[in-house]
Amino acid sequence: MDRRAFLAGSAALAVAPRIGFSQKRIETIRLATARQSLVGTAHRATEVWAYNGTVPGPELRFKQGERLRIEVENALGVDTTVHWHGVRVPNAMDGVPQLTQPPIKANGGRFSYEFELRDAGTYWYHPHLGSPEQVGRGLYGPLIVDEAVPPAVDRDVVWMLSDWRLDREARIVEDFGNFMDASHAGRIGNTVTVNGAIRENFDVRAGERIRLRLVNAANARIFGLEFRGHDPMVIALDGHPVEPHRPENGRVVLGPSMRADILLDATGEPGRSYTVADDFYPRRAYRLLELRYSRENRSGSAGTPMPKLAANPLSDPDLAKAQRHRVEFGGGMMGNMPGGMGMMGGGHRMAWTVNGKPMPDNAHTHEPILKLDLGRSYLIELVNDTQWHHPIHLHGHVFRVMSRDGKPTQHREWLDTVLLDPRSRAEIAFVADNPGGWMLHCHVLEHQASGMMALVRVA
Ligand code: C2O
Ligand code: CU
Repeated sequence: MDRRAFLAGSAALAVAPRIGFSQKRIETIRLATARQSLVGTAHRATEVWAYNGTVPGPELRFKQGERLRIEVENALGVDTTVHWHGVRVPNAMDGVPQLTQPPIKANGGRFSYEFELRDAGTYWYHPHLGSPEQVGRGLYGPLIVDEAVPPAVDRDVVWMLSDWRLDREARIVEDFGNFMDASHAGRIGNTVTVNGAIRENFDVRAGERIRLRLVNAANARIFGLEFRGHDPMVIALDGHPVEPHRPENGRVVLGPSMRADILLDATGEPGRSYTVADDFYPRRAYRLLELRYSRENRSGSAGTPMPKLAANPLSDPDLAKAQRHRVEFGGGMMGNMPGGMGMMGGGHRMAWTVNGKPMPDNAHTHEPILKLDLGRSYLIELVNDTQWHHPIHLHGHVFRVMSRDGKPTQHREWLDTVLLDPRSRAEIAFVADNPGGWMLHCHVLEHQASGMMALVRVA
C-alpha cells in the first residue's frame, strides 16, 4: 500500500462508514472485535463485535438460484453460529447450535455454510447463540438475493436499522440479559443507527426512484417510519413480493428481524430536505434522518408505473385440507411469569412461555411443541396472551398471514416473522415442506433467551 492510499484509508476509518456496501463477492466472514464510530467524531470509536471488521457486516449479494458458499471464521472469545434469517435453507445450514450444528468454537473455530438461494429478496444474517449479546454488540449483516430480472429503479439501497445502549463515553453498556429488559420490552437502546452510524442525511436526487430495503436488526426496538412529503409503496415484505400498497397509516412498521422493500420516488423539491421520522413509540418519537435533495434538476424514473416483482417459488397452502393448531405465547411483566431458571448465562430467570412452558436459550433438545407432516398444509393460530409486542419468527419456512384478530388480511402477505400486538392473534398458513427441527421464537432477543422459544419438527 503506498502512502497516499494508506492516508486515504485511515481518513476513511475516522468518519462514519459510507451508506453503500462494496459489491465484490465475499467468500469468508471473520468475527472479531473492531472499533467503529457510531456517534460521530466527538466521541471515541466504540468497541463492537463485527463480521469482517464493520457493522453491519459485508453485504452478501447473489442472484436468485445461485449457491451461497461462505466460510465463517470465529476469532472472538465466545462460541457462535450464523443463522440466515428468512432463507429457506436445508436444516443443517440453519445455524441453530446443538439442534443443527455444533457451535463454531471461540478463538479460531470455523464452519462452512453452503446452500441454494431459491427465493429472491432482502434477508440478513446474525448469530443464533447468545444472541442478545452477540447481535447487541454488532453482529449482523445484509444478504440480498436479486431477482432474475430486477425491477428498473435508479438506485437499490439497504438501510440496516439498529440501536445500541451506550454510556456517555459511547461504550456499549454490558447489562445484557438483565431480567428487567427480559421481562419487559427487551433491550431497547438509546442510540439509533442506520448502517452502523447515526446519520444526519441521506442524499437524494429529485426524480429518482429508489428501492429501499429496510432491515430491522435491533434486539428489541420496533420502528415505525414515516417519510414526510413522500408516498412510499411497499413492494415486498420479509423478502417476498406483495401487491404494491401504501403502508398502513403512512407508516412502515418493522418489528425486530422484519424487512420491507419500498419504492421511494423522490418527488420532493431540489435543494430541500424532508424528515424521515420514527414515531412507533409515541412519547419517544425522533428524527431518523433527513432526505437531502441536491440542487440538480429532476431526472429518473420516479412516477413511472409500479413494477411487479415475480413471485418466489413458494407452495401455497391448501386451506381446505389444512390441519389446525393453536400456539399461545404467555408471561412477561403484568402477566403469568413462569418459575424456574434457564441453562445459559449462569441460569437467568425465565420470563415467557410458549404453550405454558418456557424454553431456556440453548436448550434446543426440548420436545417439539408441534410435529408436522412433511408436505402437509397447516393453519396455525398464534395467540399473544401478554401485554407486550412479539415478532414471532418461524425458521425454514415462509407463511401467509391469513387473518389478524379474526379479520382476513388484505394482502395475505408471505412473511417469516409476524408482529403480534399486545393481546392479539394472527392466523398463519403454510406447507410444511422443509424437513428438520425448526425454531419458532420471539425475535425480541431478550424474550427468546428467557423462554419465548419452541421447537417445531417437520418429518
Ligand atoms: Cu433471526 Cu431464530 O432468528
Ligand atoms: Cu417477545
